[in-house]
Amino acid sequence: MRTVTKDNITEIFAAYFSEDADPRTREVLLAMTRHIHDFIREVDLTHDEWRKGLELLEWAGRITTPERNEFVLLSDVLGVSSLVDMQHSVEGATSSSVLGPFHVSNPPALPVGGDMKRDFEGKVLLVEGTVRDMNGAPIPHAEIDIWQTAPNGMYSSQDADQDIHSFHGLMTADENGRYAFTTARPVSYTVPDDGPVGEILRAAGRHPWRPSHLHYIVSAKGFRSLVTEVFPDDDPYLDQDTVFGVRDDLVMKYVAKPAGSFPDGFALSGSVKEAYSRVDFDLILAKENH
Ligand code: BEZ
Ligand code: FE
Repeated sequence: MRTVTKDNITEIFAAYFSEDADPRTREVLLAMTRHIHDFIREVDLTHDEWRKGLELLEWAGRITTPERNEFVLLSDVLGVSSLVDMQHSVEGATSSSVLGPFHVSNPPALPVGGDMKRDFEGKVLLVEGTVRDMNGAPIPHAEIDIWQTAPNGMYSSQDADQDIHSFHGLMTADENGRYAFTTARPVSYTVPDDGPVGEILRAAGRHPWRPSHLHYIVSAKGFRSLVTEVFPDDDPYLDQDTVFGVRDDLVMKYVAKPAGSFPDGFALSGSVKEAYSRVDFDLILAKENH
Protein backbone atom coordinates (compact mmCIF):
# COMPACT_ATOMS: atom_id res chain seq x y z
CA MET A 1 0.00 0.00 0.00
CA ARG A 2 1.25 3.45 -0.87
CA THR A 3 0.98 6.31 1.60
CA VAL A 4 -1.12 9.11 0.18
CA THR A 5 0.66 12.47 0.23
CA LYS A 6 -0.25 15.90 -1.09
CA ASP A 7 2.22 15.36 -3.89
CA ASN A 8 1.13 11.89 -5.07
CA ILE A 9 -2.64 12.00 -4.51
CA THR A 10 -3.28 13.00 -8.14
CA GLU A 11 -1.24 10.07 -9.43
CA ILE A 12 -2.98 7.65 -7.05
CA PHE A 13 -6.39 8.97 -8.15
CA ALA A 14 -5.42 8.05 -11.73
CA ALA A 15 -4.25 4.58 -10.63
CA TYR A 16 -7.68 3.86 -9.07
CA PHE A 17 -9.26 4.01 -12.55
CA SER A 18 -10.38 0.71 -13.99
CA GLU A 19 -8.78 -0.50 -17.23
CA ASP A 20 -12.35 -0.85 -18.52
CA ALA A 21 -13.28 2.79 -18.01
CA ASP A 22 -14.37 4.59 -21.15
CA PRO A 23 -11.21 6.31 -22.54
CA ARG A 24 -12.82 9.72 -23.05
CA THR A 25 -14.42 9.65 -19.57
CA ARG A 26 -11.02 8.77 -18.18
CA GLU A 27 -9.31 11.61 -20.07
CA VAL A 28 -11.87 14.20 -18.95
CA LEU A 29 -12.07 13.10 -15.30
CA LEU A 30 -8.32 12.75 -14.90
CA ALA A 31 -7.59 16.15 -16.39
CA MET A 32 -10.34 17.82 -14.35
CA THR A 33 -9.09 16.26 -11.10
CA ARG A 34 -5.48 17.14 -11.92
CA HIS A 35 -6.46 20.79 -12.42
CA ILE A 36 -8.53 20.86 -9.20
CA HIS A 37 -5.67 19.31 -7.20
CA ASP A 38 -3.17 21.76 -8.74
CA PHE A 39 -5.51 24.65 -7.95
CA ILE A 40 -5.73 23.61 -4.28
CA ARG A 41 -1.94 23.36 -4.05
CA GLU A 42 -1.44 26.64 -5.93
CA VAL A 43 -3.71 28.78 -3.72
CA ASP A 44 -3.13 26.66 -0.58
CA LEU A 45 -6.92 26.40 -0.13
CA THR A 46 -8.00 26.60 3.53
CA HIS A 47 -10.75 24.53 5.18
CA ASP A 48 -12.93 27.65 5.50
CA GLU A 49 -12.56 28.48 1.81
CA TRP A 50 -13.31 24.90 0.78
CA ARG A 51 -16.42 24.87 3.03
CA LYS A 52 -17.59 28.21 1.60
CA GLY A 53 -17.29 26.81 -1.93
CA LEU A 54 -19.37 23.77 -0.98
CA GLU A 55 -21.98 26.00 0.68
CA LEU A 56 -22.32 28.04 -2.52
CA LEU A 57 -22.83 24.83 -4.54
CA GLU A 58 -25.39 23.58 -2.01
CA TRP A 59 -27.25 26.91 -2.26
CA ALA A 60 -27.18 26.64 -6.07
CA GLY A 61 -28.72 23.17 -5.75
CA ARG A 62 -31.45 24.40 -3.40
CA ILE A 63 -32.64 27.20 -5.68
CA THR A 64 -32.32 25.35 -8.99
CA THR A 65 -35.69 24.59 -10.61
CA PRO A 66 -36.68 23.74 -14.19
CA GLU A 67 -37.16 27.51 -14.74
CA ARG A 68 -33.97 28.66 -13.04
CA ASN A 69 -30.77 26.67 -13.25
CA GLU A 70 -28.16 28.33 -11.03
CA PHE A 71 -25.46 25.89 -12.17
CA VAL A 72 -25.87 27.00 -15.80
CA LEU A 73 -25.68 30.62 -14.65
CA LEU A 74 -22.52 29.80 -12.68
CA SER A 75 -21.01 28.25 -15.81
CA ASP A 76 -22.04 31.39 -17.76
CA VAL A 77 -20.48 33.97 -15.40
CA LEU A 78 -17.27 31.95 -15.05
CA GLY A 79 -16.88 32.01 -18.85
CA VAL A 80 -17.17 28.21 -19.03
CA SER A 81 -20.25 28.14 -21.31
CA SER A 82 -18.65 30.60 -23.73
CA LEU A 83 -15.30 28.80 -23.74
CA VAL A 84 -16.94 25.44 -24.58
CA ASP A 85 -18.83 27.24 -27.36
CA MET A 86 -15.73 28.88 -28.80
CA GLN A 87 -13.78 25.60 -28.69
CA HIS A 88 -16.29 24.22 -31.20
CA SER A 89 -16.93 27.27 -33.35
CA VAL A 90 -16.52 26.93 -37.11
CA GLU A 91 -14.49 29.62 -38.84
CA GLY A 92 -16.56 31.25 -41.56
CA ALA A 93 -19.90 30.55 -39.88
CA THR A 94 -21.70 33.03 -37.62
CA SER A 95 -20.30 32.70 -34.09
CA SER A 96 -22.46 30.96 -31.57
CA SER A 97 -23.26 32.56 -28.23
CA VAL A 98 -24.91 31.69 -24.93
CA LEU A 99 -28.45 30.26 -24.93
CA GLY A 100 -29.40 31.68 -21.53
CA PRO A 101 -32.32 30.41 -19.46
CA PHE A 102 -35.19 32.36 -21.04
CA HIS A 103 -35.96 30.42 -24.21
CA VAL A 104 -39.51 29.01 -24.18
CA SER A 105 -40.80 25.93 -25.95
CA ASN A 106 -43.56 26.23 -28.54
CA PRO A 107 -43.05 29.89 -29.45
CA PRO A 108 -45.83 31.40 -31.58
CA ALA A 109 -45.38 31.48 -35.36
CA LEU A 110 -44.07 34.81 -36.64
CA PRO A 111 -44.45 35.38 -40.41
CA VAL A 112 -41.67 37.06 -42.43
CA GLY A 113 -42.36 40.79 -41.96
CA GLY A 114 -44.36 40.08 -38.78
CA ASP A 115 -44.30 42.08 -35.55
CA MET A 116 -43.26 41.14 -31.99
CA LYS A 117 -43.65 44.65 -30.51
CA ARG A 118 -47.43 44.65 -30.38
CA ASP A 119 -48.64 47.29 -27.91
CA PHE A 120 -45.45 47.44 -25.86
CA GLU A 121 -43.72 50.77 -25.25
CA GLY A 122 -40.23 51.23 -26.63
CA LYS A 123 -38.49 52.20 -29.88
CA VAL A 124 -39.35 50.27 -33.03
CA LEU A 125 -36.52 48.08 -34.30
CA LEU A 126 -36.67 46.54 -37.76
CA VAL A 127 -34.51 43.42 -38.07
CA GLU A 128 -33.67 41.91 -41.46
CA GLY A 129 -31.20 39.47 -42.92
CA THR A 130 -30.54 36.36 -44.97
CA VAL A 131 -29.67 32.87 -43.81
CA ARG A 132 -26.70 31.71 -45.90
CA ASP A 133 -24.27 28.82 -46.19
CA MET A 134 -20.52 29.38 -45.88
CA ASN A 135 -20.22 30.00 -49.64
CA GLY A 136 -22.71 32.85 -49.40
CA ALA A 137 -25.61 30.96 -51.01
CA PRO A 138 -29.02 31.59 -49.40
CA ILE A 139 -30.55 28.69 -47.48
CA PRO A 140 -34.28 28.61 -48.22
CA HIS A 141 -36.85 28.05 -45.47
CA ALA A 142 -34.49 27.96 -42.48
CA GLU A 143 -36.31 28.01 -39.15
CA ILE A 144 -35.45 30.93 -36.86
CA ASP A 145 -36.49 30.95 -33.22
CA ILE A 146 -36.20 34.51 -31.86
CA TRP A 147 -36.57 35.87 -28.31
CA GLN A 148 -35.63 38.94 -26.28
CA THR A 149 -36.49 41.08 -23.26
CA ALA A 150 -39.42 43.43 -23.16
CA PRO A 151 -38.53 47.16 -22.90
CA ASN A 152 -38.70 46.82 -19.07
CA GLY A 153 -35.62 44.53 -19.20
CA MET A 154 -37.58 41.38 -18.31
CA TYR A 155 -38.19 38.18 -20.23
CA SER A 156 -41.77 36.91 -20.34
CA SER A 157 -41.01 34.13 -17.83
CA GLN A 158 -39.80 36.73 -15.29
CA ASP A 159 -42.72 39.11 -15.60
CA ALA A 160 -46.28 38.42 -14.47
CA ASP A 161 -47.50 41.32 -16.65
CA GLN A 162 -46.41 39.63 -19.90
CA ASP A 163 -47.95 36.57 -21.48
CA ILE A 164 -45.40 33.75 -21.74
CA HIS A 165 -45.06 34.17 -25.51
CA SER A 166 -44.45 37.91 -25.62
CA PHE A 167 -41.20 38.73 -27.43
CA HIS A 168 -40.85 35.14 -28.64
CA GLY A 169 -41.44 34.08 -32.25
CA LEU A 170 -40.72 31.23 -34.65
CA MET A 171 -40.13 32.31 -38.24
CA THR A 172 -39.53 30.31 -41.43
CA ALA A 173 -37.27 32.27 -43.77
CA ASP A 174 -38.58 32.65 -47.34
CA GLU A 175 -37.34 30.80 -50.44
CA ASN A 176 -34.43 33.29 -50.72
CA GLY A 177 -33.38 32.76 -47.11
CA ARG A 178 -34.72 36.21 -46.13
CA TYR A 179 -36.14 36.88 -42.69
CA ALA A 180 -37.51 40.15 -41.31
CA PHE A 181 -39.56 41.35 -38.38
CA THR A 182 -40.27 44.37 -36.23
CA THR A 183 -39.91 44.49 -32.48
CA ALA A 184 -39.25 46.84 -29.59
CA ARG A 185 -35.55 47.59 -29.30
CA PRO A 186 -34.23 45.30 -26.50
CA VAL A 187 -32.50 46.90 -23.51
CA SER A 188 -29.48 45.98 -21.35
CA TYR A 189 -30.49 43.91 -18.32
CA THR A 190 -29.05 42.09 -15.33
CA VAL A 191 -28.75 38.31 -14.93
CA PRO A 192 -30.43 37.01 -11.73
CA ASP A 193 -28.12 38.02 -8.87
CA ASP A 194 -30.13 37.10 -5.76
CA GLY A 195 -28.45 33.68 -5.39
CA PRO A 196 -24.90 32.31 -5.02
CA VAL A 197 -23.89 33.59 -8.46
CA GLY A 198 -24.79 37.12 -7.35
CA GLU A 199 -22.67 36.61 -4.23
CA ILE A 200 -19.71 35.52 -6.37
CA LEU A 201 -20.16 38.52 -8.70
CA ARG A 202 -20.24 40.93 -5.74
CA ALA A 203 -17.21 39.27 -4.12
CA ALA A 204 -15.34 39.79 -7.39
CA GLY A 205 -16.52 43.41 -7.65
CA ARG A 206 -18.34 42.50 -10.86
CA HIS A 207 -21.71 43.80 -12.10
CA PRO A 208 -24.52 41.51 -13.35
CA TRP A 209 -25.26 43.40 -16.60
CA ARG A 210 -25.55 42.05 -20.12
CA PRO A 211 -25.54 44.31 -23.21
CA SER A 212 -28.90 44.38 -25.00
CA HIS A 213 -29.38 41.58 -27.52
CA LEU A 214 -31.75 39.45 -29.53
CA HIS A 215 -31.43 35.67 -29.21
CA TYR A 216 -31.65 33.29 -32.19
CA ILE A 217 -31.69 29.55 -32.74
CA VAL A 218 -31.37 28.88 -36.46
CA SER A 219 -31.97 25.42 -37.92
CA ALA A 220 -31.95 24.10 -41.48
CA LYS A 221 -31.73 20.56 -42.82
CA GLY A 222 -28.13 19.50 -43.46
CA PHE A 223 -26.68 22.35 -41.36
CA ARG A 224 -25.43 22.64 -37.78
CA SER A 225 -28.02 24.46 -35.76
CA LEU A 226 -26.80 27.82 -34.51
CA VAL A 227 -27.52 29.39 -31.12
CA THR A 228 -26.51 33.03 -31.28
CA GLU A 229 -27.26 36.65 -30.40
CA VAL A 230 -26.96 40.07 -32.05
CA PHE A 231 -25.79 43.17 -30.17
CA PRO A 232 -25.92 46.89 -31.07
CA ASP A 233 -22.48 48.51 -31.43
CA ASP A 234 -23.32 51.37 -29.03
CA ASP A 235 -24.31 49.40 -25.93
CA PRO A 236 -22.37 50.53 -22.82
CA TYR A 237 -21.95 46.90 -21.63
CA LEU A 238 -20.59 45.55 -24.92
CA ASP A 239 -17.06 45.23 -23.54
CA GLN A 240 -18.13 43.83 -20.17
CA ASP A 241 -20.88 41.29 -20.79
CA THR A 242 -21.14 39.37 -17.52
CA VAL A 243 -21.58 36.06 -19.41
CA PHE A 244 -18.88 36.69 -22.07
CA GLY A 245 -21.30 36.27 -25.01
CA VAL A 246 -20.10 39.09 -27.30
CA ARG A 247 -18.15 38.18 -30.48
CA ASP A 248 -17.01 40.70 -33.11
CA ASP A 249 -19.24 39.32 -35.86
CA LEU A 250 -22.34 39.56 -33.63
CA VAL A 251 -21.99 43.33 -33.07
CA MET A 252 -24.02 45.29 -35.62
CA LYS A 253 -24.84 48.90 -36.30
CA TYR A 254 -28.47 49.68 -35.48
CA VAL A 255 -29.00 52.39 -38.09
CA ALA A 256 -31.21 55.32 -37.03
CA LYS A 257 -33.95 55.92 -39.58
CA PRO A 258 -36.03 59.10 -39.74
CA ALA A 259 -39.77 59.29 -39.20
CA GLY A 260 -41.68 58.77 -42.43
CA SER A 261 -39.19 56.28 -43.92
CA PHE A 262 -40.66 53.02 -42.64
CA PRO A 263 -40.78 50.56 -45.58
CA ASP A 264 -43.85 48.75 -46.89
CA GLY A 265 -44.32 45.03 -46.58
CA PHE A 266 -44.25 44.77 -42.77
CA ALA A 267 -47.08 44.17 -40.35
CA LEU A 268 -46.34 47.59 -38.81
CA SER A 269 -46.27 49.46 -42.16
CA GLY A 270 -48.36 52.60 -41.92
CA SER A 271 -48.43 52.58 -38.13
CA VAL A 272 -44.80 53.64 -37.47
CA LYS A 273 -44.85 57.42 -37.51
CA GLU A 274 -41.74 58.08 -35.43
CA ALA A 275 -37.99 57.52 -35.96
CA TYR A 276 -36.91 53.89 -35.67
CA SER A 277 -33.76 51.75 -35.92
CA ARG A 278 -32.85 49.08 -38.43
CA VAL A 279 -30.33 46.25 -38.19
CA ASP A 280 -29.19 43.90 -40.92
CA PHE A 281 -27.90 40.61 -39.55
CA ASP A 282 -27.09 37.70 -41.88
CA LEU A 283 -26.86 34.25 -40.34
CA ILE A 284 -24.19 31.95 -41.79
CA LEU A 285 -24.57 28.26 -41.07
CA ALA A 286 -21.91 25.54 -41.20
CA LYS A 287 -22.68 22.17 -42.81
CA GLU A 288 -23.78 19.49 -40.32
CA ASN A 289 -20.67 17.33 -40.73
CA HIS A 290 -18.27 20.30 -40.45
C1 BEZ B 1 -29.61 35.66 -21.42
O1 BEZ B 1 -29.08 36.29 -22.30
O2 BEZ B 1 -30.81 35.54 -21.50
C2 BEZ B 1 -28.80 35.07 -20.31
C3 BEZ B 1 -27.65 34.40 -20.64
C4 BEZ B 1 -26.91 33.82 -19.63
C5 BEZ B 1 -27.31 33.95 -18.32
C6 BEZ B 1 -28.46 34.65 -18.00
C7 BEZ B 1 -29.21 35.22 -19.02
FE1 FE C 1 -30.80 37.25 -23.04
